[in-house]
Amino acid sequence: MTGDGTRSVRAGLPEPVAFEPTLPGPVFAAHFHLPGEAAGPYTYGRDTNPTWTHLERAIVELESPDESAEAIVFASGMAAISAVLLSQARSGDTVVLPDDGYQALPLVREQLEAYGIEVRTAPTAADAQLAHLDGVKLLWIETPSNPGLDVCDVRRLARAAHDAGALVAVDNTLATPLGQRPLELGADFAVASGTKGLTGHGDLLLGYVVCRDPNLAARVRKWRKVVGAIPGPMEAWLAHRSLATLHLRADRQAANALALAEALTKRAEVTGLRYPGLPSDPSYRLASAQMRRFGCVVSFDLPDRAFAERFLEALSLVDDATSFGSVRSTAERRGRWGGDAVSEGFIRFSVGAEDAPDLIADVERALDEAGAAG
Ligand SMILES: Cc1ncc(COP(=O)(O)O)c(C=O)c1O
Repeated sequence: MTGDGTRSVRAGLPEPVAFEPTLPGPVFAAHFHLPGEAAGPYTYGRDTNPTWTHLERAIVELESPDESAEAIVFASGMAAISAVLLSQARSGDTVVLPDDGYQALPLVREQLEAYGIEVRTAPTAADAQLAHLDGVKLLWIETPSNPGLDVCDVRRLARAAHDAGALVAVDNTLATPLGQRPLELGADFAVASGTKGLTGHGDLLLGYVVCRDPNLAARVRKWRKVVGAIPGPMEAWLAHRSLATLHLRADRQAANALALAEALTKRAEVTGLRYPGLPSDPSYRLASAQMRRFGCVVSFDLPDRAFAERFLEALSLVDDATSFGSVRSTAERRGRWGGDAVSEGFIRFSVGAEDAPDLIADVERALDEAGAAG
């Protein structure tokens, strides 16, 4: 048995080689020396790269520590999502998506429908996707959902989907593999944006797919080769370097998120507060049964758009920015993008690794100022 901390700091490291670095540096290569036959681990840079290999091993160790699996890294989370859906579904197939997931999923839906794939949608809460599995090729789950933070029962949905002959993919972006391990909960694919909490510094884009079935993995890998949605070696190396602190960041950010959520329960101007780690949250019971950490995203409603804008403007330790998972706190009025079914005053708050008392003081002051100026 290895703990999360030990696993994180050692994930994917090669066997020690005298006088070589612990984590070999990024390999920048479009092609590799290839005398004779077109065979060998490294041939052409769109197919394979040693820096990806180390990162892919690391991701497997985190997502599937007890059973062998394959990881395929991508240029972004969207590249990974598209790779699973478009490499598995064919014209005439049906897939089920959440209707409250990441806001680019409707674009994915348009693309799938343009290829003759039927798309059904249902909310994440109350396992509502269960009612739509008849004749389905692939069930797509996002839990906790972004930005509403509803949680569904992955084990239950995966069992029902498999009984119906469907494959199951779980977007594990928000939880990270230290928060939940979808393959252990029965999913066929764990998929994530590594842009967020996995790498945690808000300075790179990355995605990955992990699965245990080599045939499914081969199709995803082939898709990457065909589309060419590959991560740069520098991004892959930076991502791997960041994994060594994943447990520290995940613990600290989850503890800060809980402290902030608890503080927000006492504020009259805050309604609709959601954090799966808050014992009073509707997701708490289920989240506790399948998650090991509850993530760093807290969401809530402020009275209206103007109030939310004044709040964001008044914050000094929290950047008004999209994305989530960074060690530096960010928050945004999610309604500014359109697309999510949220109120005009809805805030998605990504809690960083600052000191909780500083963060809470900043948020409380910003709420006071936003209220006083109204
Ligand atoms: C849950 C979720 N999945 C996937 C993505 C897409 O990731 P990327 O921006 O790396 O393409 C995001 C991005 O915000 C996300 O929040």
